[in-house]
Amino acid sequence: MKISNSHQKGEVKILFIKDKKISQLTKTQKDTLSLLGFEGIGNIFIPENKTFVIGIDKSLQDFPNTLRDSLAQAIMSLKKLKIKSISLEAQSLQEIKEICEGILLGNYTFDTFKNEKNKSNLKEVYIHAPTLDKKAVDSLIAQIQIIANSVNTTRELINTPPMEATPEYIVNFVKNLSKEIGFECKVHNTQFLEKEKMGAFLAVSKASCHNPYLVHLTYKPKTSKKSSLKKFVFVGKGLTYDCGGLSLKPSDYMTTMKADKSGACAVIGIVDSLARLGIEAEIHGILGLTENMIGGNAYKPDDILIARNGKSIEVRNTDAEGRLVLADCLSYASDLKPDFLIDLATLTGACVVALGDYTMGIMGYNPKLKEDFLKIASSAGELGGILPFNPYLKKLYKSEVADLCNIPSSRYGSAITAGMFLGEFVAESLLQKWLHLDIAGPAYVEKSWGVNPFGATGAGVRACIEFVKQKA
Ligand code: BES
Ligand code: ZN
Ligand code: ZN
Repeated sequence: MKISNSHQKGEVKILFIKDKKISQLTKTQKDTLSLLGFEGIGNIFIPENKTFVIGIDKSLQDFPNTLRDSLAQAIMSLKKLKIKSISLEAQSLQEIKEICEGILLGNYTFDTFKNEKNKSNLKEVYIHAPTLDKKAVDSLIAQIQIIANSVNTTRELINTPPMEATPEYIVNFVKNLSKEIGFECKVHNTQFLEKEKMGAFLAVSKASCHNPYLVHLTYKPKTSKKSSLKKFVFVGKGLTYDCGGLSLKPSDYMTTMKADKSGACAVIGIVDSLARLGIEAEIHGILGLTENMIGGNAYKPDDILIARNGKSIEVRNTDAEGRLVLADCLSYASDLKPDFLIDLATLTGACVVALGDYTMGIMGYNPKLKEDFLKIASSAGELGGILPFNPYLKKLYKSEVADLCNIPSSRYGSAITAGMFLGEFVAESLLQKWLHLDIAGPAYVEKSWGVNPFGATGAGVRACIEFVKQKA
């Protein structure tokens, strides 16, 4: 899709109404709207003059996503009308940003397997911004296009069914991507995991007929004006399927577990964008790719695993597998001595209970870092909530027979205890530089919301890109 800064008229005109101010409309438009019972809030299409009116709810004006979400919802409705071009007006760069994001993210559809496609025909978007600097507008549009494409790449990978999107499929995908953009992609197989003594990661992988991989992506700018570059390391949980293992999930909870690779797919999207944007920072992406399955060779409740950092873990529930894979990935990532270490994972159902579907859990030991991330995520249009660690919870994941237990002894606060468990595998010197993002809620939702059509959302991608942009 092409978004241009131009005065050209589109097939449909998009009109915003803020504060129910419908004075900018013609008399006929006002009459039509009042006939249809439109009171200034919500979306409505006036067929006679092909105008799509978006009435922004004043009570939500402070809410960062209002314009972006309205645009996305409008685009989702317009898909059905098979419109080829739209035009609209913008008064500020912030408006341009939200408009472009809403359009590009709302226009995504996952219909590869549908015979009857619901693809949008939208090819041209004309934004009239006579009061704004043309260069600034063009460069902003180009940036948003890169970021939205990465979010859509992440969504596509997550939506791809588990029979196809195996660890090997993700490896091949990211290998090709790295060649196309020019970042490094090292693929480590089982032998490497064995050599590195990644006993926790390996245990989870045992019952799968697909080989596990730890993928290490590295981006460094070719030339830089800076004397020293900040180093960001992102670690993603990449369970291409999580049936729970021998602690098998009930059927209702098993569906959607193709999305248990959302953390790793988000990391791919983050590295993809930052490399395309040529960001002045060193970026690493670590993907822990495997499946959690059942079978004669499966790891079992009662097993005791030795993780890469030497800590022993009693397994009491094989469905708490993400923290085992991430334990070894975080220990590996710690060796890179980053300035910022961020993991993204669909880690716990408890996080969804705590914060709801739409909000990611932000955890860690550094209050300022958590606050900063929350603010930056919100400015990028993503919702987060800080879940506080506390020392009293530590005893909940102690074990009688090993150093740690993979599930806590109480289910209260178990998004937090899962996060604190991960902290046991981050080098102590890095605990103040580490953030854990539990994206179990927003990564995959079986209804459309905000800028998201049904399914994968690409949660974490926009927030982390913005974080790097501000902290690099
Ligand atoms: N992948 C799940 C968490 C999850 C739940 C993601 C819902 C997305 C939506 C994770 O591996 C898991 O099963 N966690 C268990 C942990 C429990 C056994 C301590 C959970 O949350 O129930
Ligand atoms: Zn699980
Ligand atoms: Zn899982």
